[in-house]
Amino acid sequence: MLIAGNWKMYKGPAETRAFCATFEPPDGVDVVIAPPYVSLAEAVASGLTVYAQSVHWASAGAYTGEISAPMLLEVGAAGAIVGHSERRQYFGETDETVARRAFAAAEAGLGVIACVGESEEERESGQTELVLRVQVEAIKDAVGTHELLVLAYEPVWAIGTGRTATPELAQEAHAFIKSLLPRPVLYGGSVKPDNAAELLAEPDVDGALVGGASLEPDSFAAICRAASSRS
Ligand code: 13P
Repeated sequence: MLIAGNWKMYKGPAETRAFCATFEPPDGVDVVIAPPYVSLAEAVASGLTVYAQSVHWASAGAYTGEISAPMLLEVGAAGAIVGHSERRQYFGETDETVARRAFAAAEAGLGVIACVGESEEERESGQTELVLRVQVEAIKDAVGTHELLVLAYEPVWAIGTGRTATPELAQEAHAFIKSLLPRPVLYGGSVKPDNAAELLAEPDVDGALVGGASLEPDSFAAICRAASSRS
C-alpha cells in the first residue's frame, strides 16, 4: 500500500517544516509527500519519502520553469508525480508529454506516479474506458511495466469536489486500468479519513493519492493508518 500526499501549490519551506515536525506516519504502509519544488529539500531533511509534482524529460536544457530528474535526485527526492489532471487542464500537458516525463523519470531511477482519469462529461457520455485506454496506453508505450511505475486513477469530477468515487466505481476503473497495464493503481479524488478504509478495501485499489486531506498532519496520518490496517 502506498499513500501519497500531493500538496499542489501549498506549503513553502516553513509550513513544510512545521508539517514534518508533527506528522507521524504509521508502520506498515509506504508514505510519500509531494510538496512544491521549493520545499523539497526541507521535506527530504525530515526523513520522509519525497516526490516532486512533475519532472521534465530532458536532463538539462533551455526549458524555462522546468526541473529535471537529475536535479530531483540531487536534492534527495525519490520520485515524481506526472500527468496530474491539473497539469493536463491548465498547463497544456498531453498524453505525449506525460509519457516522456514518465519515461525519463523511471530511466533516471525515480519512482513515478502517473495520473489518468476521465472528466465528468466524458463519464456521462460513456467514454470513460476509451479515455482511460488512450491515457494508459500512452504511458505503457513509453514506460512498459517498469517496476518504478505506479498509476493513479483520479476521476477529474472527484478532485477537490468532495464527490468521491464509490468503492465499486473505483474498483471497476482500477481493474480496467490494470488489464491494460499491470502495475499498482492508487485512487485519488476527495480521499478523506472517513472514506479511505472502504476505498482501500477494494482488491485493485493499491493505495491513495490524497490532495486536500494530506495538508493536515492528523488527517493525513489517519488515512495512512487506514492503509496500514489493510495491508
Ligand atoms: P483532493 O484529495 O483534494 O480531491 O485532490 C486529489 C488530487 O488531485 C490528488 O492528486
